[in-house]
Amino acid sequence: MSKPFYLTTAINYVNGEPHLGHAYEEIVADVIARARRSLGTEVFFLTGLDEHGQKVQQAAIAAGKDPQAYCDELAEVWKSFVAKLELSNDDFVRTTEPRHKEVVQAILNRLQANGHFYQKLYEGFYSTKEETFLTERDRRPDGSFDPAYGEVIQLKEQNYYFKLSDQQQWLIDYIEANPSFVQPEQRRNEVLGFLKHDVLEDLCITRPVTRLNWGIAFPIDTAYVTYVWFDALLNYISVPAAHGDPAVLQALGPQPSTLNHQLLLWPADIHLIGKDIQKFHAVFWPIMLKAMGLPLPRQVLVHGWWQKDGEKISKSTGNIVDPIAVINEWGLDAFRYYVVRELDIGADGNWTDAGFRGRYNSELADGLGNLLNRSLSMLRRYRNGIVPPPSAVLAPDAQRVVEEARGLLEQNKLQAALVAIWSLVARANQYVEQTAPFKLAKDPAKASQLDEALYNLVEVCRLLAVLLWPFLPGTASKIYAQLGLPGAPDKFSAAQWGGLTAGHSIGTPAPLFPKKE
Ligand code: MSP
Repeated sequence: MSKPFYLTTAINYVNGEPHLGHAYEEIVADVIARARRSLGTEVFFLTGLDEHGQKVQQAAIAAGKDPQAYCDELAEVWKSFVAKLELSNDDFVRTTEPRHKEVVQAILNRLQANGHFYQKLYEGFYSTKEETFLTERDRRPDGSFDPAYGEVIQLKEQNYYFKLSDQQQWLIDYIEANPSFVQPEQRRNEVLGFLKHDVLEDLCITRPVTRLNWGIAFPIDTAYVTYVWFDALLNYISVPAAHGDPAVLQALGPQPSTLNHQLLLWPADIHLIGKDIQKFHAVFWPIMLKAMGLPLPRQVLVHGWWQKDGEKISKSTGNIVDPIAVINEWGLDAFRYYVVRELDIGADGNWTDAGFRGRYNSELADGLGNLLNRSLSMLRRYRNGIVPPPSAVLAPDAQRVVEEARGLLEQNKLQAALVAIWSLVARANQYVEQTAPFKLAKDPAKASQLDEALYNLVEVCRLLAVLLWPFLPGTASKIYAQLGLPGAPDKFSAAQWGGLTAGHSIGTPAPLFPKKE
């Protein structure tokens, strides 16, 4: 049994509305998943929802709803968002599902039995909004706390803690010895900087039910529920457990042997997350895994944050980008293209409507759309839509881009891969100008030159469909259909020059990206 490439996103808070940041992360993950599949690797792509905790409880109360009913309603909104983005995920986890809750409780029992927890009285500050305990170090020079924490209260509370304090050094050594564990480099340095300069405090993993009851019951003590982050991180292994992953099941302890379908998933190949939650993924999570006796994920891949017009995205100030509205107006692939082309994984990005429009018109409509449309229209006009004999004038340029794109996709360098692919679009558009097929068509003596130009153009379009499949699956499929080719261009191995054969009859051209002013 071979292990699929296991890729996860952060699970989104169910009570938030799907916005640009969520859409970006999901699309980047989807592009990585499709690219790997196209390259011949089996992939398991997981996304889902984080449904417990104070914020969800409060939002449910404010809406006058029972928390589970409230989550069920919102889960539908998120599921339709996933459908709208045409994500190719293999599972969708909700942390209120029994399959997840059972695994969390089994792990808590194991960790307790192995002496990883202890009880302690906490006396200090607490941010309800962030569900975080705060210390003197979190105060600003004027004594106040960052407004992001919301109301900060004084709290005296008995809780359970997970020991972290003696775990710092091995993790530093591990991250130093494994440069690819946290990527990109800048994020890795931030994690190392934190681990080297801050003291890791033990993690409070419970909340008393008297204060919060919307969580997974803490199996060791019924007076508590499990801290939402301890619960949420475990989705990355509760889903493998549900699919019968033997390594994970072994870490959970004795299991009923009812599972006959086994999928080897753990360790994850990539946890894709935003920069705000890298401490949870690159510090707490590895320590939790080590305590469970499970190997660490191969990579935590950290992306940056989007702003709009240079300001923080915020519902309260109205500075938002509604992905659904953009998709309804411009099409899914225009949205997918812009976010991946605009923002490299790791850096922060800035959405501007003018920037979006600019890329749409120049790169999608005038670049790719125009190339396909004129190539196919000329083939129909001058050769009745029948592909002429093969010719390889553009083959060296195309093969170079194919190889470059392959290497970049293998390294998850998505933005650079799009830049490389568009160099082929530009080369082919330039070739139209150089060969001027409309002039060749007027001179019967130049028929073979016209054949040559037309073949090179349609063959480049075919290769572009294959290269674009991970990024713009809908557009890639349309290109294939217009070329009169069956199936989807979902195998990178089809990006070999010469796939179109003489005599093949193409389909009907139609604009991919209608120009908009
Ligand atoms: N529920 C936690 C994650 C638990 S993972 C075990 C959470 N949820 S979230 O809904 O707030 O964020 C989900 C993802 O969206 C995070 O990776 C976060 O970084 C990302 N983004 C949220 N806002 C963003 C932007 N403005 N820009 C880019 N990504 C952003 O955190």
